[in-house]
Amino acid sequence: MADTLTFLGIESSCDDTAAAVVRHTMGQPAEVLASIVEGQTALHARFGGVVPEIAARAHAERLDHCVERALAEAGLRLSELDGIAVTAGPGLIGGVLSGVMLAKGLTAATGLPLVGVNHLAGHALTPRLTDQLAFPYLMLLVSGGHCQFLIAHSAARFERLGGTIDDAPGEAFDKTAKLLALPQPGGPFVETEAALGDAKRFAFPRPLLDRAGCDMSFSGLKTALLRARDAIIAEKAGLTLQDRRDLCAGFQAAVADVLAEKTRRALAIYLEQSPKIPAFAVAGGVAANSLIRAKLETVCAENGTEFFAPPLRLCTDNAAMIAWAGLERFRAGESNDASLSARPRWPLDATAAPLLGSGKKGAKA
Ligand code: KG4
Ligand code: ZN
Repeated sequence: MADTLTFLGIESSCDDTAAAVVRHTMGQPAEVLASIVEGQTALHARFGGVVPEIAARAHAERLDHCVERALAEAGLRLSELDGIAVTAGPGLIGGVLSGVMLAKGLTAATGLPLVGVNHLAGHALTPRLTDQLAFPYLMLLVSGGHCQFLIAHSAARFERLGGTIDDAPGEAFDKTAKLLALPQPGGPFVETEAALGDAKRFAFPRPLLDRAGCDMSFSGLKTALLRARDAIIAEKAGLTLQDRRDLCAGFQAAVADVLAEKTRRALAIYLEQSPKIPAFAVAGGVAANSLIRAKLETVCAENGTEFFAPPLRLCTDNAAMIAWAGLERFRAGESNDASLSARPRWPLDATAAPLLGSGKKGAKA
């Protein structure tokens, strides 16, 4: 196999239409030659969530443009690539199908190898794209659609230690923002309000801390916030700005405490396996939260584990992570033929117990 490989990646599993080109030479850091992401936020805004049919249609309309833009930015023709990687699941099936069909068409026309990638593997392998992390490392995926701890043992083997049994934390931030009349996506607005609030005023629960293991739950927290909000409204006929700040601060502190404690437990399991260079990476939109990030960094420091957080543009949905994951699988001798199918559910660790629930952004498999 050539020392240098250049892959096109295609991503369309949720509400971002994306294409990217990644190049990697053995023993060197990978290069993202182009990464195009076209979000669909405006298309879904008035529906209060992602509408699968609208998403699928937009992907079908925009994917080929994204691929053209990515190739133009990388200064490459299709014939100069070594393979095409595409998200084959999990996600909203119409969108995943759009990507898989395009990738199959392109590989049939060019004769290039086709690699179907698990979207979550794309997220979980990103610290190798950005920081060349060595296996095994511990990973926390924490976004609007995902929340799970994984030990990445290889590009094909991920051990799931636990995850949310209901909402993902980003979803909880978004719902909190909605309940408090803040704009969407709510995470950054809740964080800004929380910075001016008193986190101790409301005693919000820390769900599932009394249960062993690394599973989490965030939907009760949202209910507690709703009750606290309604109690204030019943008493004073409205919320003051300070009430809203205090509610945000209390909510954010509860999420941060739960994530920190569960990370402590996940690290204990990971460190028992005696990794040579202990490393922990966090990915997903919620990793942008400075309180959460600081708490996770502290837990890592206390446990002699190096902390990594890839740049946000590579840990929110993008196609560079898909190109990279495909490239890694291809190096390991794997590829797919034209029978590759789109999978709405596709757990990364088939041996772990299935997760309950599925969020606004599709299956959290
Ligand atoms: O990874 P991402 O861009 O998309 C997916 O969910 O796949 O994550 C977006 C989520 C949203 O729910 C958003 O509210 C949350 O990440 N988020 C934050 C912050 N910035 C984004 N949550 C808390 N604090 C933030 N600063
Ligand atoms: Zn994602």
